Order: sequence, then structure tokens, then C-alpha cells
Amino acid sequence: MNVARDAIFERLSAHRRDVERTPLRRMFADDPHRFARMSLKLDDLLFDYSKTRTTPETISLLVELARACDLEGRRDAMFSGAKINTTEGRAVLHTALRAAEDARILVDGQDVMPEVLAERRKAAQFAEAVRSGALMGATGERFCDIVNIGIGGSDLGPAMAATALTPYTQAGLRGHFVSNVDGAHITDTLRRLDPARTLVLVASKTFTTLETMANAHAARGWLVGALGEAAVGAHFAAISTNVEAVEAFGMSEDRMFRFWDWVGGRYSIWSVIGLSLTILIGAQNFQAFLDGGREVDEHFRDAPLDRNIPALMGLLGVWHRNVWGFGTHAVLPYDQRLARFPAYLQQLDMESNGKRVTLDGAPVERATGPIVWGEPGTNGQHAFYQLLHQGADVVPADILMAALPHENVGDQHAMLLANALAQGEAFMKGRTTEEAAAQLKGAGKSPGQAEELAPHKTFPGDRPTCAIAYRTLDPRTLGRLIALYEHKVFTQGVIWGINSFDQWGVELGKELASRLIPVMKREAGAEELDSSTRGLVDHLLALQGQ
Ligand code: F6P
Repeated sequence: MNVARDAIFERLSAHRRDVERTPLRRMFADDPHRFARMSLKLDDLLFDYSKTRTTPETISLLVELARACDLEGRRDAMFSGAKINTTEGRAVLHTALRAAEDARILVDGQDVMPEVLAERRKAAQFAEAVRSGALMGATGERFCDIVNIGIGGSDLGPAMAATALTPYTQAGLRGHFVSNVDGAHITDTLRRLDPARTLVLVASKTFTTLETMANAHAARGWLVGALGEAAVGAHFAAISTNVEAVEAFGMSEDRMFRFWDWVGGRYSIWSVIGLSLTILIGAQNFQAFLDGGREVDEHFRDAPLDRNIPALMGLLGVWHRNVWGFGTHAVLPYDQRLARFPAYLQQLDMESNGKRVTLDGAPVERATGPIVWGEPGTNGQHAFYQLLHQGADVVPADILMAALPHENVGDQHAMLLANALAQGEAFMKGRTTEEAAAQLKGAGKSPGQAEELAPHKTFPGDRPTCAIAYRTLDPRTLGRLIALYEHKVFTQGVIWGINSFDQWGVELGKELASRLIPVMKREAGAEELDSSTRGLVDHLLALQGQ
């Protein structure tokens, strides 16, 4: 129990009742400097939170809350290599993976940086050799298809980033990402590929994950079927913390890329899990990606909390989740190549903060991580924005936009940005019933018709959004964006007093699946199962038998 924290939550609730009296459009009208006061810049990257229902007092209270929860102390503990992942007894050091070459970071008294740098160099050399054609397949052909087999953090990061950084991909190289244990995924991926020109990267922190191992064996079979057993060494590489399991898979030392247990799966894109991305975009661009992450680390460590972008992102999330009771958070990139960013953030946020007990195992006293979801704009506008504008639930959202596109297609970038800005404005301002009626009358409706239709055309407004605007989606910016959200999630975990770095909630389903596999393979009976699961098993097996 944190008495100081609870007292500030009380004050925040009282403060909400004050804030609620003033609509956002009024706040803007009353304060011409609202945007200047409520936006922050990190070089070209602008974070605008002026369209949230906050005042300077809200921010001071939220900063007080952060202090009462020792956000700064917890942050420093994370960066220093303390074992803050207490349920697994591990340090949390994805920040070391993007740290400067001269950094010294100790875990159990050992500086981890020499190993980090050695592995980074090994991956860079391997990637460059693939890109230049110095490293070829067993038949002497250049690799042109890079297949990453992994799931969760061993898939979402590289898959999302490869799409985001498409313009930086070397011509002639294509990335493919296979994750699902559904055989359709590997089948549809490999069907289009030539084994002689395919490099397969098996990415798994534990190297035991069912999906990844099954797909890796399927890919091995496909390759051996075409090129023979002797070709495996030339066409496979492994990325893992589990050296023994990689060796058992038959991979040689030079084809093994390592990382460490202090890198959480969902934080591993910065490690050699980024090898597929490094091959696609090159070591120099991957370094720029790491540099972007490091810039945000420095900002998170050095900026005062009321001018600290990730800390404010986290605190505003707490304001929305706990004080207003909003249950979900939407991520709306007006940047098509960030199409997988919401899915990436789902794992980052929901696997980190989807927790119901505090660090000491007591039930949490208030709601924790929201449901995170989203789709790129403008597509979402024609799908779910109806609910965002007029639905019964309020969904706080982040709107992401780049000033410069990579390609100019007519005026389309101007159209894209105009839409992003218009949505933020509409969420904030809404449209009153009087305005709707006036507009209807102006369009020729009778007063009666206008009155009847006006409620349907009313927008409540006051729907909070934050905007993140940057020059262009380059490797450095992608690194900055990911690190911003990582530290946002960290900030929220500290306020809620939970462990953001374990994921026990994925275990039960895995355990039950391992009991059900023999049942579905007809090697074990279904007698022990509950009647629903047994009924489903019987139905599926009967259909298979027909
Ligand atoms: O979904 C649970 C999880 O452990 C994630 O945290 C992780 O990213 C994913 O599975 C994949 O695990 P691995 O990299 O060990 O195969």
C-alpha cells in the first residue's frame, strides 16, 4: 500500500471533476498558448498533448504521482542493471543493446557491454556478407529471400520494422516472417521461394517455443527435400539465448547469434533478433535505429518529468485509465508503413502491463494496462472511427504522422496529413446539436427535419488524442518511436506497482495445449476434459474422420 500515491489519486479524481466542466474547445479558446504550453519537442519529433482534457495542474498532480511512486529511482534502477524483474530474478537491460560503445553496464558485477558489442559486430558482418553476396547458399547462389521464423517478440519487432523501413531495403532482398503454428503460414510463405536462394533465421529466445520449433523443422524439411541434408548449414542461422538447444538443432557456432536473459522477448528487436532487419536495411541503418532508441533513453533519463515525453505519455495513460476509466487505447498511425506498429505495441503494452497483482503478489487496487489496438489512417476512418466519434465509449488515441513521405504520389501526402489533422480536430471539438441543426437548415432541410436529424449528426467532442509528428519514418525515427512507447509502458508499470517484465499469463494456455496435442493426434483419450472441450474435440475428430 502506498498512502502517498493513493492520496494523489484522490486529488486527481477531485481535479477531474473540475476539468470536466470545461470542454476542450473552450480550453483552447481561453488560452491561446495552450499548444505551446502542452507540446514538447525532441529534435524534429513533436509530442502534442494539448488535445487531452488536462490543465497545467493535471500535469503537476501526475508528476507528483510519479514522484510518490519513485519513478525516477525505478528508472535509474532499470538502467543500472538492477534485477527489477523480480519474479524471474532478472535485470531489464534492453537499453544496453543500444547504449554507446563506451558505456559500462554491470549485471552481477560483470560489464555486459563487451559481449553486446561483439554480438552486434558479428551480426553486422554476417548481414553485410549476405547483402554483398560474399555469403551464398550451398549451390553458390546469392540469397534473395530472408525468412525469419519466430513468434511474439521474436517476430513482431523485425516484421513490423521491416515493413516500416521498406524504403531502406536493399534491392533484390525480400523479408518474410513466419510465426503461426498454423501450417498455412509456412506453406504460403515457402511456396513462393527458391530454396537455393533462401536464408532461414530461426529466432527464439528460449529455442523451445512450440510454434517456432515446428516451423523451423518444416522449413528444414523443405530445404533438405530440395537441396539435401548437407545444405542445411549454409541456409540456416539461429538467434537465441539457449546455446545448448541451438547446438542440438545442429547449428554451428558461426551461425549462432546470442542474446541474454536480461532482454525481454518483447524488448528484443534491438538485439540480434533484429538480424533479419539488419540484412534487409544494412548495418549502418540498423545502427541509426539503435541510435534513435538511445536518444530517447537519454531524454527519459535526463529530462524533468513535466518535460519528459515518455513519462508524460505514461502518466496521461494513467490519467485516462484510472481517473477517467477509459478501458482501451488506440494507436492510429497516419503512416501506412507503420501498419504493424499497433500489433507490435499490443505485445509491448499488454504483455507488460496486463497484470492483476503487484510486485509483492497482492491484488492491484486499480485498473492496469488498457487494451491497445489500432490500424493505420485513413483506413480506420472508414471502419471503426464511427465508434471513436459517436460511440458510447471514449477511446484515447495517439495520432502519428510524418512531415515527409518517401515518395511523392501527386498530392496524396497532403491529403493524408490533412486527414490526420482533421480527425484530431474533430475528436477534440465535436459538433453541438445546435451547430448540426444549423448546418442541416443551411443545406435546405426544414426546421422539423433538422431537429429530427440533429442528434444523429451531433459529435460530443472532448475525445482525447495525443499527436506525434516527425520529419520522416527513417531508421532513427522508428528507434525513437519504439523507445518512447517502451518507456511509457515502464512508467505505467511503476505507477501501478506491477512487474512489467514477466508474462506468466501466457503459461496456462501453453500447458493445456501440450496436454491436448496428443488428444488431437488421437494418441490420448478426451475423458479427463470438461464436457465443452470434449464435445469440441469429438466434433473436430469426427469431421476429420469423414
Ligand atoms: O508469448 C510469450 C512469449 O514468451 C513472448 O514473451 C515471447 O516474445 C514469445 O513467447 C516468443 O518466445 P521465444 O522467443 O522464446 O520463442
